[in-house]
Amino acid sequence: MSNRLNVAPNDLSAFWMPFTSNRQFKKAPRMLVAAKDMYYTSSDGRQVLDGTAGLWCVNAGHCRPKIVEAIAEQAAEMDYAPAFQMGHPKAFELANALVGIAPEGLNHVLFTNSGSESVETALKVALAYHRVRGEGARFRLIGRERGYHGVNFGGISVGGIVTNRKMFGTLLTGVDHMPHTHTPGQNQFTRGERETGGDLATELERIVTLHDASTIAAVIVEPVAGSTGVLIPPRGYLQKLRDITKKHGILLIFDEVITGFGRVGTPFAADYFGVVPDIMVTAKGLTNGTIPMGAVLVTSEIHDAFMQGPEHAIEFMHGYTYSGNPVASAAGLATLETYKDEGLLTRGAELGKYWEDALHSLKGLPHVIDIRNLGLIGAVELEPIAGSPTKRAFSAFIKAFEAGILIRTTGDIIAMSPPLIVEKSHIDILIGKLAEILKTLE
Ligand SMILES: Cc1ncc(COP(=O)(O)O)c(C=O)c1O
Repeated sequence: MSNRLNVAPNDLSAFWMPFTSNRQFKKAPRMLVAAKDMYYTSSDGRQVLDGTAGLWCVNAGHCRPKIVEAIAEQAAEMDYAPAFQMGHPKAFELANALVGIAPEGLNHVLFTNSGSESVETALKVALAYHRVRGEGARFRLIGRERGYHGVNFGGISVGGIVTNRKMFGTLLTGVDHMPHTHTPGQNQFTRGERETGGDLATELERIVTLHDASTIAAVIVEPVAGSTGVLIPPRGYLQKLRDITKKHGILLIFDEVITGFGRVGTPFAADYFGVVPDIMVTAKGLTNGTIPMGAVLVTSEIHDAFMQGPEHAIEFMHGYTYSGNPVASAAGLATLETYKDEGLLTRGAELGKYWEDALHSLKGLPHVIDIRNLGLIGAVELEPIAGSPTKRAFSAFIKAFEAGILIRTTGDIIAMSPPLIVEKSHIDILIGKLAEILKTLE
């Protein structure tokens, strides 16, 4: 036992890192050791401008005092309270605060610990909702190609990323997928929403006809697909999905894990597109990335359908040890206050044009085949190196880190989503440095 304490603290082998090329990383690690507002500090003492809000989550910038203090105070006052058949005030306060900023009609909240768990929770609510209403034959879940809904079994089943699915057996049964909305050759370098492609939503009608509406529980989509490279929906597409789902009694789930909390210039993407789902999945920005937490918001119609039977009976057999954890709830409350105090949930609308112009100034640089943007999200797609997909963008990522900017890559797409406190001067640095890097890529 005792010599376990002798393991060298900087031995990198024990931690099997997530979504990482472990062997490559451990040969040349990139370590972050501190953060403040828009900047990380690397282990070699450099300032690195955060162009990705961590992983799309640090929307208010790093180490914000109000959030830090709320976490410290709650940890000292009451670290944990049992989540089942017991409560503590802050979880209720946070649920109310969330409902207060959510699109009209999403009135009830289930807490989770991550985006992946929020997705599983949403899918389970959808299946159970139909069942408690006597429509248990609605067992099918419809996702979309190039959708990312986290890494748990439900999420990878409805998700549409082959590399995330192919290793893991049969996944959930009863799942089908709509085509993705990315139409290269038609829409390159579009600013904001794309004009063509909205009719792709009618593919859902084809799937409904194939399976019959009476077997379909829910459709899940990201309003803007983030992880597969910032795919902005064509104009009218989400409204069409809403119309079709409503017509057939199918629930519509928006996965707003990335798009929630101001990322597209409105509190949620549902607000931006003017389309309200039946269930909304959130995480990430809920606590500004500080303490793991997610939340699933549902309509009263869904919630109330469960509130039947004897009162002593548990209405929904689901929950996590840390659902509504006190420290996470305190972090969430302080985060929502910070967003409100600083107008961050709509700041993306104010800065969106500057961001868009800056991003599109990269058009014409070597290998750039598309640029996409919405709110404070942006993507620069590179032509892959023949026979070595992902290599060119990954090399941009490494060079960017060395040059003092943090970007993210997925395939050969560079995705950026700075904290919402970003200033124009930060955008100039980020895009300026990226331009220089793009000029040097093989
Ligand atoms: C749209 C979407 N859903 C779900 C998830 C999964 O969230 P987590 O990594 O917190 O499980 C992500 C993560 O990036 C996401 O982008």
